[in-house]
Amino acid sequence: MSVSGTRENFFFRSLETAIETVNDGIIAVNEKGLVTAFNPAAERITGLRHSEVRGVNIEELCGSSAVIKALYGNGTAVRGQMLNFGDTPVGVSRIPVRAGKKEAGLVIVFQTAGKIRKSDAKKTKQGSACHGLVAKFRFSDIIGKSAMIEEAVRECRKYARSEAAVLITGESGTGKELFAQSLHNESARRDGPFVAVNCAALPENLLESELFGYEEGAFTGARRGGKQGLFTLAHGGTIFLDEIGDLSLGLQARLLRVLQEKEVMPVGGQRLIPVDVRVLSATNRNIGALVDEGKFRADLYYRLNVLNLHIPPLRARLEDVPALFRYFFERLAGPGKLEAFNITENLLENLKKYMWPGNIRELEGFVERYVALGEENIKTHATFHNLLGKLVGYDTPAKRHSGEHIIIELGNMMDMERQILAQVSGMITGGKGEMARILGVSRTTLWKKLKELDIHVPDKENTG
Ligand SMILES: Nc1ncnc2c1ncn2[C@@H]1O[C@H](COP(=O)(O)OP(=O)(O)OP(=O)(O)O)[C@@H](O)[C@H]1O
Ligand SMILES: [Mg+2]
Repeated sequence: MSVSGTRENFFFRSLETAIETVNDGIIAVNEKGLVTAFNPAAERITGLRHSEVRGVNIEELCGSSAVIKALYGNGTAVRGQMLNFGDTPVGVSRIPVRAGKKEAGLVIVFQTAGKIRKSDAKKTKQGSACHGLVAKFRFSDIIGKSAMIEEAVRECRKYARSEAAVLITGESGTGKELFAQSLHNESARRDGPFVAVNCAALPENLLESELFGYEEGAFTGARRGGKQGLFTLAHGGTIFLDEIGDLSLGLQARLLRVLQEKEVMPVGGQRLIPVDVRVLSATNRNIGALVDEGKFRADLYYRLNVLNLHIPPLRARLEDVPALFRYFFERLAGPGKLEAFNITENLLENLKKYMWPGNIRELEGFVERYVALGEENIKTHATFHNLLGKLVGYDTPAKRHSGEHIIIELGNMMDMERQILAQVSGMITGGKGEMARILGVSRTTLWKKLKELDIHVPDKENTG
């Protein structure tokens, strides 16, 4: 064999290797309209097998597969056309192959998830467990200089270099998803898709077909051509299983099998689809306790929790609150507004009086309300104090008195109510507002009761 022949051989083998391994689906059709190439990504996206389609006329395939029909269209050249496979956007290019002046066939290249979603980041789908397909956050977006948050970032960065599963724990609103996205964007899989799934968003059977997909005719109402599951959509990238603690035992078993075998069996399917996906999961529940109660499989827990990342609640790192406030404020109100509102470090210190049980998400909501209302007086910051006072008010009275006792003598209802009101009114430092909050009734209800029972509470109202 000549040198150039060897070279040519090598060239074709490299090309073949590339076609076999890329994440884009590739279908080649020769001048007679017969399918000559159908790579693994095409198999994954269409749900058809290479052996089923090779050598078959494309027009004929269009008759039997809605997916192929959509991809082939009228067979004319297109670049980056957006199609929807159910709720999955797919970008398609059809490129004619020429031999001299003659058209010698067609190559169809198509892709789902990450690559397309990058231009489509904000779009979320209703009635779906999947609330995002692209990771927009990076570690540089994580605000906070507390030792705790810096340690969490350091740890998470280390995890980004590994391929192991990570379980992210932390209260609601602490930034679990933010960390998961940052991890993905710093990992070797950063160019692949990031598929976030909320395991608490859908009933079991719907979640099952969302996660694993289904084959055509799997159940009544199943779409023609079947549906690709989120696991296969995440191929080459990361899947983020949020609220994993809410996964039913049935789906836990299925998930475990996928993690062990690295293969997915669509609902109603006969064949296993190999998937290469890194698994991140998150929960605000105590999974250890769920395992003890028999509500969460221990074997699955160990598989998900190879690495663990705990995001501390905001109250444990109150020193981060001012920086977070400034960050959200600038983002929502625009540049220069901190000065315009005369927001000082001193003022922001006040935010540490509140324990932020809803964590960063609650703080974000606070800033949103503040920006929406505007500051009525930039000297006294009346609006700021008023809004914060409302929060602190909800937070502290009940807590301030929690653990305290009152003793009442057994009697009829009215007698006992009178004792409760009289004793509680003696304990409070604020006015009727505080009293109503401790007792968990509206001011009107309290006012009526006090009147009915003829109890007098001095009106020394404060906002706190
Ligand atoms: N350190 C941080 N810096 C900047 N923004 C943050 C930080 N932590 C959280 N956020 C923001 O707070 C909001 C809540 O974060 P995220 O959704 O990641 O929380 P979560 O832990 O997933 O909450 P849940 O358990 O309720 O799903 C998001 O808008 C996120 O961008
Ligand atoms: Mg979340």
